[in-house]
Amino acid sequence: MTATVTPITSMHRLYSFVAGNSGGWLVEQVMRVSGELLPAAPRIAVVAETSAHPPRDATWCLRGITSNERYVTREEKTALAAKQEGLGRAQASCAAMIPIRKSAAWWAMPQDERRDIMEQQSRHIAIGLNYLPAIARRLHHCRDLGSNEPFDFITWFEYAPADSAAFNELLRELRASLEWRYVEREVDIRLRRADS
Ligand code: HEM
Repeated sequence: MTATVTPITSMHRLYSFVAGNSGGWLVEQVMRVSGELLPAAPRIAVVAETSAHPPRDATWCLRGITSNERYVTREEKTALAAKQEGLGRAQASCAAMIPIRKSAAWWAMPQDERRDIMEQQSRHIAIGLNYLPAIARRLHHCRDLGSNEPFDFITWFEYAPADSAAFNELLRELRASLEWRYVEREVDIRLRRADS
């Protein structure tokens, strides 16, 4: 008897980021923040899809899945919901894709200690809130897709060209925090919407 494997039904929770010659986002800059860089490619396609197989001509393909929140409190959730805007806004023709891997020391900690570092000691959410609604974001988790994923998270941000400096300031604040001492690989990819 042949076993049938049912494809993952993601309901658009699973996203692939495919670097290559096609896609709606033009790569403007690929910067190494820590760890190994990713190879450059002219474009990135963000695809909501179920397939585990990247296109054959892709330079690279990273996958991540959106998930429930792990750390936010009720108060923070309410504050975020009141301020944040979604992806795909007409004026938000700039994007940043920042894949991140955290260290084994980070993952060895229980959730309450990670939350303590992330918020009590680093103010990640409080800092981030200051930049809403200019910056829209989506967090994708990679760890639970398998043990071969090169990153733990793929972060995606969209903003108007006029907010580029604010976005850089946000990164400066976050990267100076205690939380970022647990980041062992980070690549900062800046993009512009191809039709903009
Ligand atoms: C635009 C402002 C930002 C806001 C409002 C924000 C907010 C948040 C929130 C609420 C979470 C926790 C989600 C949960 O409870 O599981 C989170 C997680 C995360 N954020 Fe941000 N963030 C912002 C900017 C950034 C930036 C610029 C980066 C990367 C350079 C980043 C990277 C991450 C990562 C990697 C996580 C997952 C951390 C973990 O689970 O260990 N965030 N962010």
